[in-house]
Amino acid sequence: MDLSRTPGRTAAAVALALTGLVAATAPAASATTTATPSAALAAPDIPLANVKAHLTQLQSIATSNGGNRAHGRPGYKASVDYLKAKLDAAGFTTSVTTFTSGGATGYNLIADWPGGDPNQILMAGAHLDSVASGPGINDNGSGSAAVLETALAVSRAQLKPAKHLRFGWWGAEELGLVGSKAYVNSLPATERSKFSGYLNFDMVGSPNPGYFVYDDDPAIEKTFKDYYAGLGVPTEIETEGDGRSDHASFKNVGIPVGGLFTGASRTKTSAQAQKWGGTAGQAFDRCYHSSCDTTANINDTALDRNSDAIAHAVWTLGTGSTTPPGDVHENTADVAVPDNGAAVTSSVTVSGRTGNAPAALQVGVDIKHTWRGDLVVDLVAPDGTAYRLKNSSSSDSADNVITTYTVNASSEPANGTWKLRVQDIATQDTGYIDSWKLTF
Ligand code: TRP
Ligand code: ZN
Ligand code: CA
Repeated sequence: MDLSRTPGRTAAAVALALTGLVAATAPAASATTTATPSAALAAPDIPLANVKAHLTQLQSIATSNGGNRAHGRPGYKASVDYLKAKLDAAGFTTSVTTFTSGGATGYNLIADWPGGDPNQILMAGAHLDSVASGPGINDNGSGSAAVLETALAVSRAQLKPAKHLRFGWWGAEELGLVGSKAYVNSLPATERSKFSGYLNFDMVGSPNPGYFVYDDDPAIEKTFKDYYAGLGVPTEIETEGDGRSDHASFKNVGIPVGGLFTGASRTKTSAQAQKWGGTAGQAFDRCYHSSCDTTANINDTALDRNSDAIAHAVWTLGTGSTTPPGDVHENTADVAVPDNGAAVTSSVTVSGRTGNAPAALQVGVDIKHTWRGDLVVDLVAPDGTAYRLKNSSSSDSADNVITTYTVNASSEPANGTWKLRVQDIATQDTGYIDSWKLTF
């Protein structure tokens, strides 16, 4: 018996302890509730004329800089400057990061749309460099301009997305995905885990187009396929060069990816010409990596459809929240806490969320106990990281721990098995975990 604190025990404390024991016999509180997902907003039509105006600018940048926009050449940096000015004027937070490849400085352009959940990042990107042999208007002015115009549409709509939207234009893709690899490598693991998806657009206006959808993340793939189904245009899985564009850099570190492609040097089959039109027996892009990849090397219908598809994906995946705040996960099963004994845990398994837990994760705790100063309480994240909620205190003779703690769990992936860990570190008084819950 722990006599040291017996004098501290008052009649009131005993009465409270008895109240706690009465509560122990009451039925457990009710079960888990989950908030309803909010619907995505409808995307605007992306004006083809605006996308083509960007291509005209990229063409003139190439023309006045030796005919290309390649890594290490002045036409590349001029392309970055053109896009950056548009994005800055539209209210994006932009940054230009540098890397070195082949002895030349390369540049990535990143544009963040302020707002959205910083733990759920949706990124869309395109490589902005051309090969040295041409202006690179289809490869990849097309993807660059379509992503730019989608970003500008986000600004025109003054969109308030559930997710944080980020747009990126990569340097030195043509030299081996150099810029996108440098970007991904620059992200700490906790930052990488916040990406709910990366969408890639490389060659989306091929002159003899096919309609190819990357076969990577199923939810992203479905978003694009649904868009095309709505147009009544059949699609095929992209197979011409899996891993041959910047999405590979993201996929390699476990980020869900998807994208669109209209074909490069492969030949369109007669079956493909039948469903999509165009010329069978001819390459999707006869000017691939050539000097003739100019503004004349664009199929307007393909560029228009894919620009609208990009906006559809950004709006659908960015504004529709399948993981709303207020999502509650609870365990109401009682767990006895042994007197002066080993720690016990009660688990809550979270699934179906994306990204990390919030910076203000709410941990609702209901522990019945006759001397709560005996208790040490931790929240244990799925990876085993413990967050101390409460220390023991020999002077805290009150009963029960019934409160809500706020934990900054933003470095922890939300999904997985979380535990409430409770240990009673002094003799005499006992209790049990009545229930606890996590509110995301
Ligand atoms: N820029 C790419 C390259 O030069 C073009 C490409 C080829 C591509 N195959 C692809 C882009 C498949 C996306 C998907 O390699
Ligand atoms: Zn290319
Ligand atoms: Ca005790």
